[in-house]
Amino acid sequence: MKIAAFIHLLGLAAVQSLISVAPTKVRVSNIDWFLSTADVESKIRKVFADDSIIKVEVKPPRRNKRDEGKLHSGSAIVVFSDKRAVARALTSTATSSINQWRISEVMEKEEEPTKKEVSPERVLLRQERAGRYARQRARRASSIDNLLDAIGEAPIEIESMSVEGIDFGCAPPGVDPASTGGGLKLGSKRATRKRASVEAFRTAIRQLFPTTLLSELKVADLGSGTGNLAIPLAWATGCAEMLAVDIYADSLARLLARAQEAGLEEKISVECSDILDVNLAGVGMVVSLHACGAASDLAMEAAVKEGISFAISPCCIGKVNFERSMQESGEVSGGNKDRAGKPASLSYPRSRWLSDKIDIEDYTLLAKAADAADGAGDADSDWFRRGRRAKGIVEVDRLMFARERGYGAVRLLEMPGMDGYGKQELLVGSLR
Ligand SMILES: C[S@@+](CC[C@H](N)C(=O)[O-])C[C@H]1O[C@@H](n2cnc3c(N)ncnc32)[C@H](O)[C@@H]1O
Repeated sequence: MKIAAFIHLLGLAAVQSLISVAPTKVRVSNIDWFLSTADVESKIRKVFADDSIIKVEVKPPRRNKRDEGKLHSGSAIVVFSDKRAVARALTSTATSSINQWRISEVMEKEEEPTKKEVSPERVLLRQERAGRYARQRARRASSIDNLLDAIGEAPIEIESMSVEGIDFGCAPPGVDPASTGGGLKLGSKRATRKRASVEAFRTAIRQLFPTTLLSELKVADLGSGTGNLAIPLAWATGCAEMLAVDIYADSLARLLARAQEAGLEEKISVECSDILDVNLAGVGMVVSLHACGAASDLAMEAAVKEGISFAISPCCIGKVNFERSMQESGEVSGGNKDRAGKPASLSYPRSRWLSDKIDIEDYTLLAKAADAADGAGDADSDWFRRGRRAKGIVEVDRLMFARERGYGAVRLLEMPGMDGYGKQELLVGSLR
C-alpha cells in the first residue's frame, strides 16, 4: 500500500515537472562576440540542422563598460518546437566539435511572485549588509595598500611610448580591426584601442628589428583570435611570415577568411593549438594581445624557452591563479576561465624577485586588484589608482621572470591612446 502510494506520488511529480518546466529552448553561450548577429544565427541553424527550430534570438551585449564594441553578448537562445528537438540539440555530435560553445537547456521560469512590501526589519538587514560590504571593501583596500607598500619600488619602471600611427584608411579590406572585417564597431572605444594596440606593437617590433631583418622575420601571434593583431601586423610591419595560434578552430577559420580578403593568405598561416603546446620553429618574434590570464604567461614562457623576442599585452590578470579544468580527452575545457587558468607547469609569482617578497595568497589579492582597474570606470577613483599600481607590479613580475632567464633588455611600456583603460601595458623583451 505504502509502495503504491509512493509510485503514485513519483508519477504525479514527474508529470507535474513536465508540465511546469517543459523546456523548448536551448541557450548557446561562449560564442565569439565579434561574429555578426546574422552570422551567429546562420551558424547555429547550420550546426543544429534541425527543422524544428522556430527562431534564434541572438542576445544583445550586456550594457556595462567592458562590453563596449561587442556585437552581442556571446550567447543566443534557440527556440525549438518540441522537447525532442531540444534533447537532440543537447546530444548533437556536430556541436561537440565546436568545443567553445556551451549548450544548456532553458527552463521556463515559474511565474514571478508579485512584489511584496519590504518590512522595516528587512530594510534594516539590507542596510547592515551594505555596511558590512563597505567595511570588507575598506579592509581589502587597506590590505592591498599595505602589500604594495611592503613590495616597495619595482626594479623596472613604466615608460611612456611614442608610437608611429598607421594609415588604416589605405588598408585592404579585412585588415583594419576597427572595421566590419575586424568585427568591431567603427568609432567605438574598443575599436580605437585595438588600432592603437596594433600601432604600439608595430613600433615595438620595428624598434627590435631593422627593416632588413624584418623582411626575413617570422612573427607568431599567440592567442590570435580572429586576427585583430596578426592581420594588421602582417600587413603593416613588412614581416616575412605571420603564424597565428589559437585554441579555437572557429576563430582561426575567420582569421584565414580575413587574410584572404586582405590578399595576405601567402604570408599568414594558422596553428590550432593550446599555447602550452605551440611549436615555434623558425619564429623570431612572439606577439600576444589580451591572451586571457595565464595564457599571456604561457606566451612569454614559450618565447623565453627559445630565446625569442616578445611583445605581450596581457589581460584578465585576476584569472591567472585559477587551475585549468581538463576534459576527459586531456584538453583544456572550453570555458574562458579554464583556458585562462594555469596549467600545473606555471607558478606565481613568476619571478624570484617577487616570490621572495610575497606568497601566492598575497599574489592572488594583487592580481584581483590589478583587474579591478579595468572596468573601475572612474580613472580618478582610488580603486583605479590602486589597481594600476597592482597591475604594474604583476607586469614587472612577469618581466623579471624573463630577465632572470637571461633577457638583458626588458621594458614595460605604456601604450598611448588608452587613458582610463586597465590594460595599457606592453611587455617587451629580448635577449640583448
Ligand atoms: C581576448 S581574445 C584576444 C584575441 C586577439 N589577440 C585580439 O586582441 O583581438 C583571447 C584569445 O586567446 C585565445 N586563448 C586563450 N587561452 C589560450 C590558450 N591557452 N591557447 C591558445 N589560445 C588561447 C582565445 O581563444 C582567444 O581567441
